[in-house]
Amino acid sequence: ADSTLTRNFCIIAHIDHGKSTLADRFIEKAKLYVSRGPAQDQILDTMDIERERGITIKSQAVTIPYTAKDGKTYELNLVDTPGHVDFSYEVSRAISSCEGALLVIDASQGVEAQTLANLYMAMEHNLTIIPVINKIDLPSADIDACLHQIDHDLGLEPEETVLVSAKTGAGVDELFEAIVKQINPPEGKDSLPLQALIFDSHYDAYRGVIVHCRVFNGILEVGSEVRFMHTDTPYKVEEVGFFQLGLVKTDALHAGDVGYVITGVKTISDVRVGDTITTVKNAAKNPLPGFKDVKPVVFSSIYPVDTNDYEELVSAIERLKLNDASLIYEKDSSAALGFGFRCGFLGMLHLEVVQERIEREFGLSIVFTSPSVKYIVHMKNGDVINIDNPLEYPDPMRVEYAEEPFIQANIITPSQFVGSLITLCMEKRGVQVGMNYLDEKRVELLYEMPLSEVLFEFYDRMKSVSRGYASFDYQLIGYKRTDLVRMDILVNGEPVDALSQLVFRGSSQLRGKQVCERLKGEIPRQQYKIAIQAAIGGTIVSRETINAFRKDVTAKCYGGDISRKRKLLEKQKEGKKRMKMVGNVEIPQSAFLAVLKSD
Ligand code: GTP
Repeated sequence: ADSTLTRNFCIIAHIDHGKSTLADRFIEKAKLYVSRGPAQDQILDTMDIERERGITIKSQAVTIPYTAKDGKTYELNLVDTPGHVDFSYEVSRAISSCEGALLVIDASQGVEAQTLANLYMAMEHNLTIIPVINKIDLPSADIDACLHQIDHDLGLEPEETVLVSAKTGAGVDELFEAIVKQINPPEGKDSLPLQALIFDSHYDAYRGVIVHCRVFNGILEVGSEVRFMHTDTPYKVEEVGFFQLGLVKTDALHAGDVGYVITGVKTISDVRVGDTITTVKNAAKNPLPGFKDVKPVVFSSIYPVDTNDYEELVSAIERLKLNDASLIYEKDSSAALGFGFRCGFLGMLHLEVVQERIEREFGLSIVFTSPSVKYIVHMKNGDVINIDNPLEYPDPMRVEYAEEPFIQANIITPSQFVGSLITLCMEKRGVQVGMNYLDEKRVELLYEMPLSEVLFEFYDRMKSVSRGYASFDYQLIGYKRTDLVRMDILVNGEPVDALSQLVFRGSSQLRGKQVCERLKGEIPRQQYKIAIQAAIGGTIVSRETINAFRKDVTAKCYGGDISRKRKLLEKQKEGKKRMKMVGNVEIPQSAFLAVLKSD
């Protein structure tokens, strides 16, 4: 391959501005496939859940051949990136393997919080940035306003902006030309020792682990002996190739190429994203600069609703882990729920995706415990411990003080919502650190807030108080002192360990009330009265009662036909399978989930 004809680029954008649709249009234009299957709307989003939620979770790569106006055929390597904050680390991986980025802006929305965050990340990696205004077919498109923002807010050239509609395909040819003209070809040399950057990997049931890499220097050749520099493991290269809606084999990947490599690697956990592949002989002296380590920020335990399903849960988690190195877990057990796993997630969206996949792909009913962030607890005896599980919170008498993780949020909003957003941030214990007018109509608010407040319901509240117009992005900034208490939930006097949570003292009363009310709404009446209480230490902070009720499902059809009766009883049994017994009370799976939900 001639690397002067190669262009490596990614598409970055705020969520929903149309990255996946645009990527789709590229592939279609390049005639990599002929007809569009009705079931598969967006080709790059392969997982069902992604398709349903319309979000891109795993970055994917594809090579598009394109014959430009100069008559030459270029190889355009597109790396698709996700837009949600939980998965922002995927963006940085993708960016490191490219020379250029298309910064997509929705013509009806303009610049939003993640547009800025992505721009900064692309600038840090010295990428050439092509501004793209998408959705120009919309009646509400305001191209002039977007051009102004590109100039004023982003400091990019309005003249270099390409106008497109990913929906109709308008402007896509111009965009291909802009990619060829504005983005530099890759610079590496085949003659130097091999340095290939691992930017992703996925697991294939037949082939094992498929490593996605960008070759910066040297040649990655079938049959050669290679070494992953950080993990220091040697492997033999079994196959290499390019991504073209599937894997297309070739003999070698050269400097500048983006492609895949298959070695004997068995599980995703043996591959460190950000690691450098080099050859055993004539090895590179130094690895390429790696990536930030991905650290989970939300922790929760997963239990099967039916304790007999534990073995199936074990295999479900192991299977998920094959394809999701960011999911971390260890064995856990609970008095109320039996055996399960303590898991770490990148955010609430990641947690929900894992939950859905376990339920859908493995057909298991599961219960999640209240999610928690990681706290640092300073003990009176000088010990310092990390705690993400409320059950491990030590006796308060022995605690000197606790610290919790804080973030800096940047919120971009039309100015009329500033008042309500400030109220919301204050309610979430936010401290304002900045407020900038971006132009006459739009304001950027900067707040420091506890991560725990942002994770659990902030996003929905922000969207509702701003009628969907405000957008936000955040970064962890470190730990700050907090006043933490452990709140336990008692059902008929029995603590349900899975419902315990660590909360800010000032919010505990309100939180306790919420949890009790929600549980009251979810636990069906039973043959005796049920008391639901929230307690901090020995003090009850909230209480609800569910009155007794005798439920006889067959009563309606006395004298009726027996098969109908049997069906009803079976249905009730089905329902029972999704219940957990706590003491003498049956708690449905939905009750555990309801406690997690935001308002
Ligand atoms: P994530 O993958 O979730 O980050 O979102 P995305 O940025 O990839 O957005 P996506 O491609 O899923 O598009 C979001 C929505 O905008 C979808 O409903 C698309 O159909 C729509 N959309 C994308 N491009 C256009 C366009 O050019 N015109 C119009 N009218 N709608 C578009």
